[in-house]
Amino acid sequence: MDTLPWWQDAVIYQIYPRSFSDGNGDGVGDLRGICDRLDHIADLGVDAVWLSPIFVSPMADFGYDVADYTAVDPVFGTDADLDDLIEGLHQRNMRLLLDWVPNHTSDQHPWFVESRSSRDNPKRDWYVWRDPAPDGGPPNNWIATFKGVPAWTLDEATGQYYLHSFLAEQPDLNWANPEVEEAMHDVLRHWLDRGVDGFRADVVHLIGKGDQLPELSDDHARAIVVAIDEPFTHELLRRIRSLLDSYAHQPMMVGEVYLLGPGQAATYLGDSDELHLSFDFRPVHTAWTADAFRAALATNQQEFAEPRWPTWVMSNHDRQRHRTRLGSDDAARAAAVLTLTVRATPFLYAGEELGLEDAVIPPERVVDPDGRDGTRAPIPWTAGPDHGWGPDPWLPFPPDAGTKCAEVQRDDPDSFLALYRSLLRLRKESPALRRGSFEWAEVGAPTVLAFRRRHGDDEVVVAVNIGPDPAELDLEGTILAGSRSDRPAGAFDGTLAANEAVILTGG
Ligand code: NOJ
Repeated sequence: MDTLPWWQDAVIYQIYPRSFSDGNGDGVGDLRGICDRLDHIADLGVDAVWLSPIFVSPMADFGYDVADYTAVDPVFGTDADLDDLIEGLHQRNMRLLLDWVPNHTSDQHPWFVESRSSRDNPKRDWYVWRDPAPDGGPPNNWIATFKGVPAWTLDEATGQYYLHSFLAEQPDLNWANPEVEEAMHDVLRHWLDRGVDGFRADVVHLIGKGDQLPELSDDHARAIVVAIDEPFTHELLRRIRSLLDSYAHQPMMVGEVYLLGPGQAATYLGDSDELHLSFDFRPVHTAWTADAFRAALATNQQEFAEPRWPTWVMSNHDRQRHRTRLGSDDAARAAAVLTLTVRATPFLYAGEELGLEDAVIPPERVVDPDGRDGTRAPIPWTAGPDHGWGPDPWLPFPPDAGTKCAEVQRDDPDSFLALYRSLLRLRKESPALRRGSFEWAEVGAPTVLAFRRRHGDDEVVVAVNIGPDPAELDLEGTILAGSRSDRPAGAFDGTLAANEAVILTGG
C-alpha cells in the first residue's frame, strides 16, 4: 500500500460562499447554506472543499479585503456555523481548505488603521509606505490590478503613498517586517488548531517584494500581479511549509501564483519544501482547439513532472465559466472528462457539475470592480422561481436555471451532474486515473488528445476530440465512461463525435 499525500489523490471543489446556497433567505449565500448542501457535495464524490474568503470584510473585493482574519463575517454566519461545516465535512470524509489572503488586508483592518494613523506608529512599517516622487507623484511606475490605476494611493494626512496591488481598499502588507510574518503565521495556526485541513493562498507570489521596489520594465508596468517573482517569496514559503508540516494532519497549501511565464508557477513548489500545489492557469486561458490544449497539457505535464504534481482547473470565481467559454454542452462535457482524467489534482468550481453558464448581468446589477459577476451567479438548487434562494439574490441566476438546477439533474442519467458523478466514481476506483503516469498515445487523429495513464496493472486510455467534426481513431478498447450519454457501452468503435471524449480500458 503506497502512501500518497491526500492532496495528490484528491478532487477539490471550490465554493464561492456568497453564491453557493442561501441558508437564511437574505439573498447572499452563507455557511448554513453550505451545511444544507453537504449531501450534494458528498454525492458528487469530491474529497475536499475550498471556500473563498468568509472572514470579516467590508466587501470592496467581496471578501478578498479582510478586516479580521480570524472571525467569520456575519453575512456568512457565525463561528458555530463554521464548526458545524468542518464537522459535517469531516463526518463525510471530506476536508476543508480556507482562503488565506496574505498579500493585502482591507484598509479597514485595525493593522492598517493604526499604520496610517501616523508616520511613527509602531505598525507603520507593517505596510509599504513611500515618499512621493520628486514631482509629487507615485514612488514608482507600478500599476494595480482591476482599474489600471497606479498601485499607490497618497495618504494626505501623513504625506506618503501606500502600495496596493489591487484596489486602494486593499493595502499590501510588508512581509519584510518579521512582525507581519509572525502575525500571518498566527492566522494559519489559529485555523489549523480549529481543525481546517489547509489553505488556498491568494496571490502568494506577491508577498516577497522585499524592501527594494524597482521600476518595472514597460512590459510589466501595467500590472505588478504578473511581474513580481522574487527569491524572498521562496524563503517565506519555506517557513510557511515548516509551520504546516509541524501539524500531524497533513495540512496543505495550494498557491495562486499568477505568473504565466514558462516554468514560473512550478518553481513555487521549491524542493517539495514550499507550496504543496501551485495553480497552473493555462487551461483557463487556452482556446478550445486541439493544438492549443495539446500544448497547454504538454507544458503542464513537463513543468510539473515528478517529483512535482500539477493542478488542472477550467473555471473559477475570477474567469468566465468554461461552459460559456467553450460554447456548448458537448465541449463542456468533454472538458469534464479531460479535467478528471489528466495527471493532476483537479479543481472543480461549484456549478460546473451542473454545466452552468455565466449569468448575463444587466448594467444596473453590476457589483464587482472587475467584471466578474457573471461567473459568480447564484447556484440554482430547485426548479421553482426562487431556485432555493431568498426572494432577492445578490446576483441574477445563470441561464436555464429552471432546467439546470440540481433538483432536476439529480435523477436524470443524461445530465451534467450524472456525468460528473460517474467520472468521480470511476476515478475513485482507478489507481491509474488518480495517481498513474501520463504518456501521450498516438491515435492518428490530429484533433484528438489521447493519453495513457498507468499504475501497476491498471491502465486506461483517454481520448478527447476537440473539434467541430467527428474523428476516426486508430484505437481499440472497452468503454469505461464517456462524455456523451448516448455512447453505447462495450467495445469502442473507433469514431468520436465532435467534442466527444471517452475513457477506455484494454486499449
Ligand atoms: C485573486 C483572487 O482570486 C481574486 O478574486 C481577488 O480579487 C484577488 N486575488 C485579490 O485578492
